[in-house]
Amino acid sequence: MAQEPEAAATPVERDENDFIISVEDVWKTYRMGDEEVHALRGVTLKVIRGEYLSIMGPSGSGKTTMFNMVGALDTPSKGKVLVNGANMSELSQAQIAYLRCHSVGYIFQSFNLIPVMTALENVSLPMVFSGMPRKEYEEKAAAKLALVGLGERLHHKPLELSGGQMQRVAIARAMANDPELILADEPTGNLDLKTGQEIIELMLKMQAESGVTIVTNTHDHKMLGVSDRVVDLRDGTVEKIRRRDEINIKEGHIEGFDPTAE
Ligand SMILES: Nc1ncnc2c1ncn2[C@@H]1O[C@H](COP(=O)(O)OP(=O)(O)O)[C@@H](O)[C@H]1O
Ligand SMILES: [Mg+2]
Repeated sequence: MAQEPEAAATPVERDENDFIISVEDVWKTYRMGDEEVHALRGVTLKVIRGEYLSIMGPSGSGKTTMFNMVGALDTPSKGKVLVNGANMSELSQAQIAYLRCHSVGYIFQSFNLIPVMTALENVSLPMVFSGMPRKEYEEKAAAKLALVGLGERLHHKPLELSGGQMQRVAIARAMANDPELILADEPTGNLDLKTGQEIIELMLKMQAESGVTIVTNTHDHKMLGVSDRVVDLRDGTVEKIRRRDEINIKEGHIEGFDPTAE
């Protein structure tokens, strides 16, 4: 990848409008009987609008807890999360519900599709919740499914699809209301290497076409090369944040992955 030395050396000046999410000294403590588990210990992180950010870290490092904070699915024990400059803890229940429905698309490791519904119905659901007329949401759901390569699978139910196809349905569903932010918690965790690669490529395509911001939790090294920035989370704290040009990957090479190994 060609790289301008000045670009790497000069820090970009940013103002608050550049950030879609600001996590400010966030702590999350879970109580288990008498015991306290500190899942996050003072995390500060700003997500730049339009970027592809990967949060990496071993199991138990706090990735899913971060996902829940950034996606307004849970609240911090201490500290604050700003969404487009608004403090999430000061939003009303209705504003939070609106945010979850319109501004954020969620993708989970285990797909979380509704088994009794077809692909078309699963993708329609967020649009039904947003009050869209039936004709409109059915057309839009079919178009989103075509976009993820499932134009021929509209009426299949999740169990009639492969893992990769189920994750494609979940991506189409996440994009249904044209969100500003896609949050993906280990999206390739249940997929084989090749299918995982295809899912990452699909998320990149979504980002390129719509400008959506992507934040993804992963311990999948395939995510390193495609990310604009990589956050290393350890024991609930940010160990380091690297920009793409600071990550040591050769073109076509995946860090930590040896294609010749069995
Ligand atoms: N609901 C919960 N109750 C108690 N402890 C929890 C809960 N959720 C997560 N934890 C603990 O918080 C820590 C971070 O968990 P998590 O965010 O799920 O990590 P990761 O997604 O990186 O594997 C772990 O020690 C986990 O056991
Ligand atoms: Mg997790």
